Amino acid sequence: MRIAVVGSGYVGLVAGACFADLGHEVLLVDNDEAKLAALQNGEVPIHERFLPELLARHRGQKIQFSGDLQDAARASQAVFIAVGTPPTETGDADLSYVESVAREISGAVEQYKVVVEKSTVPVYTSQWVRTIIMRNGADPALFDVASNPEFLREGTAVTDFLYPDRIVIGVESDRCADVLREIYVPLTSGSYYRNPTAIPRPDRAQVPPRLIVTSTRSAELIKHASNAFLAMKISFINAVASICEAVNANVQQVCDGIGADSRIGTRFLNPGIGYGGSCFPKDLQAFRSVAKECGYEFRLLDEVIRINEEQRHRFLRKVRGVLWTLRGKRLGVLGLAFKGGTDDIRESPALLLVQDLLREGCHICAYDPAAMGRAKEVLQPGVEFASDPYEAANGADAVLILTEWEEFSALDLDRLRKLLRYPIILDGRNLYDPAVMAARGFSYHSVGRPSALTEDLPAGVRPEKKERL
Ligand code: UGA
Repeated sequence: MRIAVVGSGYVGLVAGACFADLGHEVLLVDNDEAKLAALQNGEVPIHERFLPELLARHRGQKIQFSGDLQDAARASQAVFIAVGTPPTETGDADLSYVESVAREISGAVEQYKVVVEKSTVPVYTSQWVRTIIMRNGADPALFDVASNPEFLREGTAVTDFLYPDRIVIGVESDRCADVLREIYVPLTSGSYYRNPTAIPRPDRAQVPPRLIVTSTRSAELIKHASNAFLAMKISFINAVASICEAVNANVQQVCDGIGADSRIGTRFLNPGIGYGGSCFPKDLQAFRSVAKECGYEFRLLDEVIRINEEQRHRFLRKVRGVLWTLRGKRLGVLGLAFKGGTDDIRESPALLLVQDLLREGCHICAYDPAAMGRAKEVLQPGVEFASDPYEAANGADAVLILTEWEEFSALDLDRLRKLLRYPIILDGRNLYDPAVMAARGFSYHSVGRPSALTEDLPAGVRPEKKERL
């Protein structure tokens, strides 16, 4: 099928590349000429596993890049809107980009097509998109508007797209549902997975995925409610981690215990320094705002957001509890991205913590496998950047692990210890076992687990005792 994808950001670019891999003819539209030129020249603007391979495989063949939205929409049977929906000052999603795309599409509706909302948007957006397209002169019999929310995560975006837990399509007519079903048939029939060139299947994936057909409004709510629920799980376990610290229990053991209940599950129960990124913080605010507009005060979400912010402050207090004064301390920071596997630093708790530490007068030498280019724009001057974790640790008073990169969980501990001024690690992502770290000679402090102390801190200031709930 010929598909136009409007917006070459995270969702648009990954969706476009994956649709091409499913065998569709994709027109990827963007109004940023520099970005289009870079994509045409073979550049890949985001750090995402398998994306370079897919773009190289299909560029100029099954994927064409275009700056002409109307032409692309006219030529396509389905038009996916994947433009940004940034937050406004009040926390609502700014839908003006969606509206302007809808307006332009209206001039291209000459034969039946489906306009699909793929960006994360509040409930009723599909209806508004329909109204705008009609208001601008399109024949209502010649198009339908659907909602097809995307559940991909940064860092594993391509495999999340191709091996999803479910595909949700929100539609108001059978005709529209049929078009979307056809687009996803290579996944739902399992034919894609039999293809020898298919992107390899991740361990956990169940194939073929289930297709869930709902109304457009339900689909829009599924997206917001999914992200809010996942963020709630993270804040819940972070709150439990704080109690564990107060009573000297181990949050990992608590997680294993509660996660063994199949109704709960262990995933998204990793405590840390809080969630960040371009989705959870923004989507929680937007969902809260939508609920309020509909007459419901979703106070639970306020608490999820509050716990998340508090989690970062708790970690900062922990750093202070271990190092005493901060002015002039040299810290090696491992991780700046909001999570492992990505170069994205938007709303990164790691980056916010570095900024807090700079305000406290610390000297920071940071390393991140992918996000340093972006981080330099925000943190320089002020922060030194290292070319590997060991350079960041060299001569430091302590190492802080702030992003859950896989490579940070396999460090050469002896080398690290020798490079550090003091063998102190504050791990905001619980990548190591405290007992192992103690045996390797580290004073090791993590989240929600007893610290491993190789030195005697003054009574009452042991980090896990000092914190008030
Ligand atoms: C999230 C959702 O997981 C996706 O399903 C959704 O499609 C996406 O938002 C979106 O709306 O576009 P993403 O923000 O890429 O994906 O990353 P996550 O893996 O969800 O991580 C979000 C944050 O939570 C990160 O800062 C991560 O470090 C943190 N996190 C995650 C935890 O602190 N603990 C966990 O157990 C899991």
